[in-house]
Amino acid sequence: MCQSDIHDFLQGLPKCEHHVHLEGCLTPDLIFELAEKNNVQLPNSPAYESVEALHDRYGHFSNLDDFLSFYFTGMSVLHHESDFADLAWSYFQKAHADGVHHAEVFFDPQVHRDRDIPYETIVAGFVAGCHRAEKELGLTTRLILCFVRHLPLDSAARVYDEALASKHFEDDVLHGLGWSSTEVGPPKDMFRTLYSSASARGIPLTAHAGEEGDASYISTALELGARRIDHGIRLVEDPALMERVAKEGVLLTVCPISNLQLRCVDDIAKVPIRKFLDAGVCFSINSDDPAYFGGYILDNYCAVQDAFSLSVGEWRVIAENSVRASWIGEERKTELLRRIDEYVQKYVVV
Ligand code: HPA
Ligand code: ZN
Repeated sequence: MCQSDIHDFLQGLPKCEHHVHLEGCLTPDLIFELAEKNNVQLPNSPAYESVEALHDRYGHFSNLDDFLSFYFTGMSVLHHESDFADLAWSYFQKAHADGVHHAEVFFDPQVHRDRDIPYETIVAGFVAGCHRAEKELGLTTRLILCFVRHLPLDSAARVYDEALASKHFEDDVLHGLGWSSTEVGPPKDMFRTLYSSASARGIPLTAHAGEEGDASYISTALELGARRIDHGIRLVEDPALMERVAKEGVLLTVCPISNLQLRCVDDIAKVPIRKFLDAGVCFSINSDDPAYFGGYILDNYCAVQDAFSLSVGEWRVIAENSVRASWIGEERKTELLRRIDEYVQKYVVV
């Protein structure tokens, strides 16, 4: 809960979330519960001594790769279709309570395939969670397959082939491709061939860039066909590129609490929210890996409000841009924009 007197307004404001990893919604409680159920041996290290010890360790990530080692270990407890479905459902319930009306969620199949979980098990489970959210919460969803940068390119090509063979992009099961994991180290353009193939098929593309890496990671992602940038906070270091991103309406999916927890910034006030607003850059505010960073989407909205004291009008712009940049049809966009308009009108009158 933020200090702000517009906390209630932020809570009810209709939101779209564009940057959340479903595996990043695995809480320490659920990790221990599933490890026991699925007979998974967790590491024999102090961090995994108890749920509380793991919680405490999550408060002290030193950088992206330090976090990723816990994130990839955590997801090793997921074995059955129902594990994937329950995890997605647990996220959607929290998102719904935070005022999310539409969510575009990532998952990392390569990492599960590496431990011999069938592609179908992973996708069927996550899709079941998405369908339940649509049916029971009226929350629309989009599922984005993420390639990971720390594994060999071959493993990304394998899951891409599995997705194509399953006709998941044509059949509205998967709605886009992204990339994530270790930013600095592997070649910036490691997914050039896969993105080129996906672009030719008209598959929507996004990419994690400009989180730890400098602005050249963003320009490379755009060159490869990404039409959205996940994080992108280091865009401010390249004013010409920032101007282009603003002009082309590229969405940045900003995750303020993640940036703080992974030490990309030492204060939320250093996330360039004000600079992006002033430069006309479109962005949404998101949770990234809420179970690891200690905050879901509303916590991120509140953290931004505490740091920047935005006006109702500025929040309206953020909410509307989030809708316009979503990968949904015009009808759903119109519906969500109408909800925002009604909500803001009511708030202003009260
Ligand atoms: N950055 C890169 N990879 C990730 C992240 C992130 O913030 N979260 C989960 N995988
Ligand atoms: Zn992310």
